[in-house]
Amino acid sequence: MSLKKICSNQPEDFSFNEKNKIIAKEILKNYPKDKKKSAVMPYLSLAQKQNDNWIPLAAMKYIAKELSMPYINVYEVATFYSMYNLAPVGKYFIQVCTTSPCLIRGADKLTKICREKVSDKENEISENGKCSWVEVECLGACINAPMMQVNNDYYEDLDEKNTSKIIDSLMEDKPLKPGSYRGRKNSSPEQKLENLSKENNA
Ligand code: FES
Repeated sequence: MSLKKICSNQPEDFSFNEKNKIIAKEILKNYPKDKKKSAVMPYLSLAQKQNDNWIPLAAMKYIAKELSMPYINVYEVATFYSMYNLAPVGKYFIQVCTTSPCLIRGADKLTKICREKVSDKENEISENGKCSWVEVECLGACINAPMMQVNNDYYEDLDEKNTSKIIDSLMEDKPLKPGSYRGRKNSSPEQKLENLSKENNA
């Protein structure tokens, strides 16, 4: 598991763009007026989305002001959760799950391919700027292990061959389709469904 590092090259200012100001207003409606700070996580996600998938310190300060809460509290949340990036990432941000179920099923081969094709180090953007990768804890798709998340998509049931092809496609900016690479529908069995099909099972 890699450590999160704050980018040393920080923009001076940040504010939500006009579209996100409207979205932020809508988010606030989900919380009581005197509990504005409850919106800190969706606000951080919105800032990350607006800022090419990473959150600068200026955005944390802006959010603190918007939600009338101490900056340190926003900083604590942003630095605690692995879903928030605190430094720039590649256009395709690859998160490889290396928790036990995925590791048993070969996640180490996936990280090896990332090292070879993207960058030798985690959190380092590839030379062409297209990809960066990181090891993460369980992404909740253990039944489709091993798997990786690329931006908002899951690539599942992977092996060395198809992972290699997927990473190549990302590096070429022509991403292959996400989903199961053994043809499964979500987490359904690979074989034909037979439960309850025979009388003695009914
Ligand atoms: S262990 Fe990899 S998704 Fe759960």
